[in-house]
Amino acid sequence: MATEKSAVFIIFGGSGDLAHRKLYPALYNLYKTGDLKEHFAVIGTARRPWSDDYYRGTVVDSLKDIDDDEKAMEEFSKHFFYQSHDVTDSDHYIALKKLASKLDDQFQTGHNRVYYMAIAPRFFGTVAEHINSEGLKTDGFNRLVIEKPFGRSFDSACELNSSLTKTFSESEIYRMDHYLGKFMVQQLTRIRLKNRTFEKSLNNKYVSNVQVTLAESLGVEDRGGYYETAGVLRDMVQNHIMQIIGAVAMDEPAKLDSESIHEVKRDVFASLKDLKPEEVDKNFVRGQYGEDDTGSLKAYRDEDNVDPKSNIETFVAGKMMLDNDRWSGVPFYVRSGKRMPAKSSRIDIVYNDAVKELGINPNTTVTFLIEPENGNSILVNGVDYQEGNQDFLKFPEDPKYFSQEREAYENLMIDILDGNKIHFTLWDELQNAWKYVDVIRQQWDNETPDFPNYMSNTMGPDAASELLEKDGNSWIWDD
Ligand code: BG6
Repeated sequence: MATEKSAVFIIFGGSGDLAHRKLYPALYNLYKTGDLKEHFAVIGTARRPWSDDYYRGTVVDSLKDIDDDEKAMEEFSKHFFYQSHDVTDSDHYIALKKLASKLDDQFQTGHNRVYYMAIAPRFFGTVAEHINSEGLKTDGFNRLVIEKPFGRSFDSACELNSSLTKTFSESEIYRMDHYLGKFMVQQLTRIRLKNRTFEKSLNNKYVSNVQVTLAESLGVEDRGGYYETAGVLRDMVQNHIMQIIGAVAMDEPAKLDSESIHEVKRDVFASLKDLKPEEVDKNFVRGQYGEDDTGSLKAYRDEDNVDPKSNIETFVAGKMMLDNDRWSGVPFYVRSGKRMPAKSSRIDIVYNDAVKELGINPNTTVTFLIEPENGNSILVNGVDYQEGNQDFLKFPEDPKYFSQEREAYENLMIDILDGNKIHFTLWDELQNAWKYVDVIRQQWDNETPDFPNYMSNTMGPDAASELLEKDGNSWIWDD
């Protein structure tokens, strides 16, 4: 049974794409499960002058693909209010404060507030500072949710963090990484805690290499402007890939709570083996997509809002190492790219022969399929572990457990409302991730790449395979 939660959500960027694609559907699903019922309200803010009715119409529209229960959608939308807002205008925060406290009373929300930054990152600091100076914080909980990117480098992330921490303490800041809300990423930790053999197998005695692949078949679509400032290194490696490595490589946490998990995760990021600028080219490969072989898909440089001479990478493959007793010597190969032959988010753990000792067949690969959604499962040597009767991965759980899936944003919204920070990125983790990525970025910015260097619908540049071949390894996912 769901426990009802209460809060006023203030969504900065309430008319935007993220709000409509992810946030409103997630809140609606929580409404349907009873996690949200009577005691919540949502204020959407943006510059355009919308009425409440118009705004509610857009909210209902955003739900059309997930439900046809018009009555429920209508009732749900009555919790939504719109406030036209210029993020730099103090008066607008005063109006927002009035509306929020009115809704606090009307919906009895216990003065709890979730401030959700679904706006351009350059405004994060400004909004947080105004929340402080205009006294929006209440005596209930006040949680600030920040979408990525959290900075563009170590220095800019520090700057952003100090502007936020003038108003919000680290415990009130929820840095979103939607990969941490994904079902299989969350299961990985649970399975590790439940299954002793699997947990025992995760170290340099038994693991030959770990591979994290976040491949996408789409190109940059309409996000060329943003992507030109990011590239796949900042867009996927600095956050999602790093966090997945944290989940695979962390030591066993004492408990499944936020403090214990972050304690062991923090150690993983601190033990990332330093990469020297002169080692970047040997360990990291970058690519940019060209057309496909029929010429029907555009090259990256021909996408909207992209510089026709752009040197931004849309593909990366790399080898990362950890300098600690558990993992030293084990390569963590990572890869992410746009316009690859298929969408596939997965973790492959490749064992060596020594695993025989644990009763696991030599040369086994355990794969966590994160997405596409219908592929949420674990494979052992390519076979679904449930069908393949793979004893070593059995864990004493109800089989229904794999069907209890919620969408990433729903999981994360519940965590925010519960004050549970397990699945959010903490500041010290982020600092180490940026320090690592900055070395690659700076090195790449010093050299002009020969782009485009892979065709759309292919596995990226050949150098991505060669990176593993020179260690005697190969990618497990190879379309
Ligand atoms: C986002 C990136 O964080 O993740 C996008 O900004 C990318 O560029 C997306 O497409 C991939 O997420 P998912 O959940 O579709 O694998």
